[in-house]
Amino acid sequence: MKNNIILLGFMGVGKSTIGKQLADVLEMDFKDLDDLIEKEEGQTVEGIFELKGETYFRSLEKSLINSLEINNTVLSVGGGTPCFNDNMHRLNGLGTTYYLKISPDKLAERLWVKRKKRPLLKDVKSIPELEQFIDDRLRDREKYYMMAENILDVNGKASCEILEDILKFVKKLK
Ligand code: S3P
Repeated sequence: MKNNIILLGFMGVGKSTIGKQLADVLEMDFKDLDDLIEKEEGQTVEGIFELKGETYFRSLEKSLINSLEINNTVLSVGGGTPCFNDNMHRLNGLGTTYYLKISPDKLAERLWVKRKKRPLLKDVKSIPELEQFIDDRLRDREKYYMMAENILDVNGKASCEILEDILKFVKKLK
């Protein structure tokens, strides 16, 4: 039985925040794929995109998730990770996957304030532009996200409610 939990979904949905809380409650380790990439490269995600480009970043994601050996761990992955290089198959093999699903308008609200840290959002100039970006990306990405074993609607939910929802799934699996 797989004893890892993988959280995925669009950037800004709260994967890392929820992941850390979940790991605490379940007494599991927590890892964030972007953090692992930054450690290995000695460079921030923004820096990697700027200096080496997105294709290079995607190759790092792929080789890391393929070589990752985790046990009793909650892993949160970047918003694009499931959508490249057949990564979703590997993620489904690595742990029980959860797609944290949120509506584009809620995402826009959350991402507008955090956009500076996201290289893919660096050229976005206004909230309508951000909404358009999210709509377009989600249309491409959702088919990959929907390959997750569990889909969780997190719209309008506080992090403690999302946590409870995930815990219900986890208990069912035990
Ligand atoms: C990306 C999401 C980011 C990070 C990189 C690319 C994406 O992670 O991996 O900036 O393609 O959606 P978060 O989802 O944690 O922001």
